[in-house]
Amino acid sequence: MARITAGIATSHIPAVGAAIDLGKTTEPYWQPVFKGYEFSKQWLAAHKPDVVVLIYNDHASAFSLEMIPTFAIGCAESFAPADEGWGPRPVPVVEGHPELAWHIAQSAILDEFDMTIVNKLDVDHGLTVPLSLLFGQPRAWPVKVIPLAVNVVQYPPPTGNRCWNLGRAIRKAVESFDEDLDVMIFGTGGMSHQLQGPRAGLINREFDTRFLDKLTADPEGLVKLPHVEYVREAGSEGIELVMWLIMRGALAADAREVYRFYHVPASNTAVGHIILENPR
Ligand code: DHB
Ligand code: FE
Repeated sequence: MARITAGIATSHIPAVGAAIDLGKTTEPYWQPVFKGYEFSKQWLAAHKPDVVVLIYNDHASAFSLEMIPTFAIGCAESFAPADEGWGPRPVPVVEGHPELAWHIAQSAILDEFDMTIVNKLDVDHGLTVPLSLLFGQPRAWPVKVIPLAVNVVQYPPPTGNRCWNLGRAIRKAVESFDEDLDVMIFGTGGMSHQLQGPRAGLINREFDTRFLDKLTADPEGLVKLPHVEYVREAGSEGIELVMWLIMRGALAADAREVYRFYHVPASNTAVGHIILENPR
């Protein structure tokens, strides 16, 4: 049977992708950011999963205001890096796992989560930047990836509680997949940031720290947090953090915190990153 071994959350800042692609990771501004992922790269190399279910949001790259799925799962064989306006990132094509993706889609939909099934999907920085941060610059990504896109761009996004319950449904789906696979789940986006309006540049370290503490030790204490609190405390784009609850919902209650990293500044965003390991 397949099993979820760990969950990882990380910000997915596009400028981080540009820093990698343009060879700027050792510059003084960026060096502390990338240093924070050194442990994670080594840990992942030692605990390499077969498949990653990668929770992210599309930033009007594959979808647009013409079509806004709340939850969309990529069931294709592969996913090309999206052109976000300056050409696709020079990173490998993302290989999917159609059998597991369809199994998750079936299990979740029959559990009354109405997921959109996507058979052609270009993946933007929300998905490729976490892969770069955690796997570096290989010729091919070392894992298969199932993209799961969440609408956090157009009101109304799903509630934290809905995201948490989707995580639980994903865990049930993975654990009923009849193949011996190690699966990890990544939650991306956040932490506090606001990209527009009078509060552009907002960072809230206290909120972010509390969020990280509770994500490990008291996630059920986070799931009822209303959207307005995310926006007030973590900025308009801080709402991306609801995606971390999908990751956490897919793990055991007593998942162990292996690593945590928090850094400001990076682009307009507080960088947050955590690794949670399921008990064996
Ligand atoms: C930025 C964009 C994002 O999508 C994000 O999650 C964080 C930062 C940015 O443009 O800086
Ligand atoms: Fe984003």
